This record gives sequence, structure tokens and C-alpha cells, in this order.
Amino acid sequence: MKAVVYRGERDVRVEDVEDPTIDAPTDAIIRITTSAICGSDLHMYEGRTGAEPGIVFGHENMGVVEEVGAGVSDLKKGDRVVLPFNVACGFCRNCENNKTGFCLNVNEGFAGGAYGYVSMGPWRGGQAEYLKVPFADFNALRLPEGEEHEHDFAMLADIFPTGYHATELAGVGPGDTVAVYGAGPVGQMAAYSARLRGASEIYVVDKVEERLRLAEEHSGAIPVNFAEVDAPEFILDATDGGTDTGIDAVGYQAQKPDGEDEVPAMILNNLVTSTRATGRLGVVGLYVPSDPGAPTEEAANGRLLFDIGTFFEKGLKMGTGQADVKAHNRQLRDLIIAGRAEPSFVVSKRVPLEEAPDAYARFDKREDGYTKVVLDPAA
Ligand SMILES: NC(=O)c1ccc[n+]([C@@H]2O[C@H](COP(=O)([O-])OP(=O)(O)OC[C@H]3O[C@@H](n4cnc5c(N)ncnc54)[C@H](O)[C@@H]3O)[C@@H](O)[C@H]2O)c1
Ligand SMILES: [Zn+2]
Ligand SMILES: [Zn+2]
Repeated sequence: MKAVVYRGERDVRVEDVEDPTIDAPTDAIIRITTSAICGSDLHMYEGRTGAEPGIVFGHENMGVVEEVGAGVSDLKKGDRVVLPFNVACGFCRNCENNKTGFCLNVNEGFAGGAYGYVSMGPWRGGQAEYLKVPFADFNALRLPEGEEHEHDFAMLADIFPTGYHATELAGVGPGDTVAVYGAGPVGQMAAYSARLRGASEIYVVDKVEERLRLAEEHSGAIPVNFAEVDAPEFILDATDGGTDTGIDAVGYQAQKPDGEDEVPAMILNNLVTSTRATGRLGVVGLYVPSDPGAPTEEAANGRLLFDIGTFFEKGLKMGTGQADVKAHNRQLRDLIIAGRAEPSFVVSKRVPLEEAPDAYARFDKREDGYTKVVLDPAA
């Protein structure tokens, strides 16, 4: 089958790889109908992780069940499903607590697994024609038959639950004010989720105008262009002392306004500044323990200059980590079915799998029209 294979810094290729097979009785094989490219893939693409050449990318997968192992009882051939980007067993201590982003049984010596991602276990990605899904009864979320809402449901693999998870970590409730740093797909979904949860004011910070406009239009957000104003100061002034909650949807590759340099702790420290005393922070933007391209030696080992003094003084709370997609995807699916959520507004392009190398390059440059690209292996 064809798959998107990582070959090195800014080099992905569509190559022939072996078809996946049922290896455990609880496995299923899915024929991919839609697989999305994610900002998380860009960290690997840019050579900013320990990813080795040869990885098949793709953790935002949906499709139709092609084949099931003898131990799969709930799913059958022909079922339409979306897969959380997390791979999880369903029966370890963390899975039982709904913390499926930290499963103890799918990635030796590590809490948490995912498809097609460095350090996240042996699970091949789904930017391909087919995907093997382990513990398939547990991991697959069933969808209504047909093709309706394809792009809405595709967002359930990662960014919609991840954006929602950010609002959960920050405890965004009715009437709260929120600052969302980053208006990429994850920031869009965090702002959208904040609106679903009844936030009164949502500030969204980025410098890509198209993305700021998107958040304004679909989430009622107040756009803050950090290339034009000092974003935390602007938010402090506008809210008279800071927002109740804050969200990091950028991570360690935060840029200075000129786009040349990165300041890995910038967003964390912006949040400390622009959140009111006793406020709450949800950090879903990625931080890594090892970054080959980091600006400093400390940062190369995941050690950043965080304003812990002010963080403590203000009595702030912070939640972090991979999103536990399964904690939210069923409820968010049902909002889509009921017509009360339409996360596909973020999808800007659907392209054949063959065009993945070009799509990666353009998404990496944050070109207009490339906010969120989905790949179609059948095209
Ligand atoms: N925790 C999780 O489970 C999880 C899941 C998915 C993605 N992520 C992470 O979330 C982050 C965002 O993902 P995405 O797909 O939206 O990526 P993206 O790269 O498309 O979006 C990041 C946005 O941040 C903006 N940005 C850069 N520097 C900034 C700054 N100083 N201030 C404000 N905005 C700035 C960029 O212009 C861009 O629009 C990534 O780090 C990704 O790895 C985490
Ligand atoms: Zn993703
Ligand atoms: Zn588990």
C-alpha cells in the first residue's frame, strides 16, 4: 500500500510499504477514508524531535473497518469509525481512570502511545491506505454510516477533543474569560470549545491573519496579533487584571514576532502574565524532553526558563499533557450529530495522499489556505 514516510528534515515521501496484518486477536484493519496532517507532525517534519527516518506519519485517522481479529466482538467489517490519536488498552490503571493518553500497556516503559509518532510506541501511522488498530473494540469510536460529516468526524481523532481537553484542564466554565495562545487548528478548537462551554470573552493570539479571522468568525474570539501588539499586555489591559483562564496551543516552538527566533518558554510565561491571580492554565501545546534544534543547551534537554516565582505568587494552577481523546470524543461526536458543533470549519484543503509532500511544505510555512489539510488515500 501507499503511505507517507518520513525521510529526514523537511522530507516526506509517498512510498510503497507492507500492508498491515492482524497480529493479535484484538486487532482490526481500517481502510482509511480521511487522515489529517497535524501541527504535531511538523515538530518531527522540521527535525525538532528524535524521530528516525522510516516512520509512517498519521495519527488523525478515520475510515471503514476492513477486517477484524477473532477477539474483536463489537466491531465488524463495514463499520465507519474514527480512531483517537492515542493508542490505549482499556484496562490499565490510567485507562480505567479515563486517562487514555497515558496508557501503561501500549508503549514499553512509557505512559502513552500514539500512531505514527516518535517515542509513542511501535504503532504505524494512518497517512496511508490502511491502518492496524490494536485493542480495536476499545479504541474505535463508531460513526453513523455513509459519508455525512466526514470532515467534522475526522476532527474527533485529535484536535477537537484536544482543544476541548485544554478547556477542561483550564476549567473553563460559563462566564469565564479565556486567552488562547495559538490560532492553529488546536487553538481554533480550544476557542470553539470555550465558546461551547459558555466563556464570556475569548482572546486568541497569533500573527497569521487568516487564522485570527477564522477564530473571530467561528468562535466569536477577539483577535490579538502578537506581531502588532504585546499580547499579554494587551490582554491585561482589556480584562482589567487578566483572564480567568488561559490556554497554550503553541508549545515549545513559540516564535518571536519576527518569526526568526524561537523562545521555548514564551507561551508559558505569557500565560503567567495575562492570567489573573488564582486563575487556571491548560497547556496542550507540546513540550519535549529532547529537542535537537533547541536554541540553548538546557532547552535541548527540555529545561526551560519558566517564571515559577510569579506563577506561585499568583497561585495559578496548570494542567498539561497529551489529551485523553476518549474522555471527550463520544460527547463531541454527539454534538456534531445533533448539529450543535461543526469543527470542520477549520479544514481548508482535502488532497490526494500523493500530494502530501507539497501539503506538508505549505502547512509548515503556515501559508494561507493551509490551516488544516486532510489527506484522501482513495483520490
Ligand atoms: N496535547 C495534545 O494532545 C496535542 C494534540 C495535538 C497537537 N498538540 C500540539 O499543539 C500545538 C498546536 O498544534 P497545531 O496543529 O494547532 O499547530 P500549528 O503549528 O498549526 O499552530 C501553532 C500556531 O501558533 C502560532 N504561534 C507561533 N508562535 C506564537 C506566539 N509566540 N504567540 C502566539 N502564537 C504563536 C503559529 O503562528 C501557529 O498558527 C503543537 O505544539 C502540537 O504539537 C498537542
Ligand atoms: Zn494531531
Ligand atoms: Zn491502558
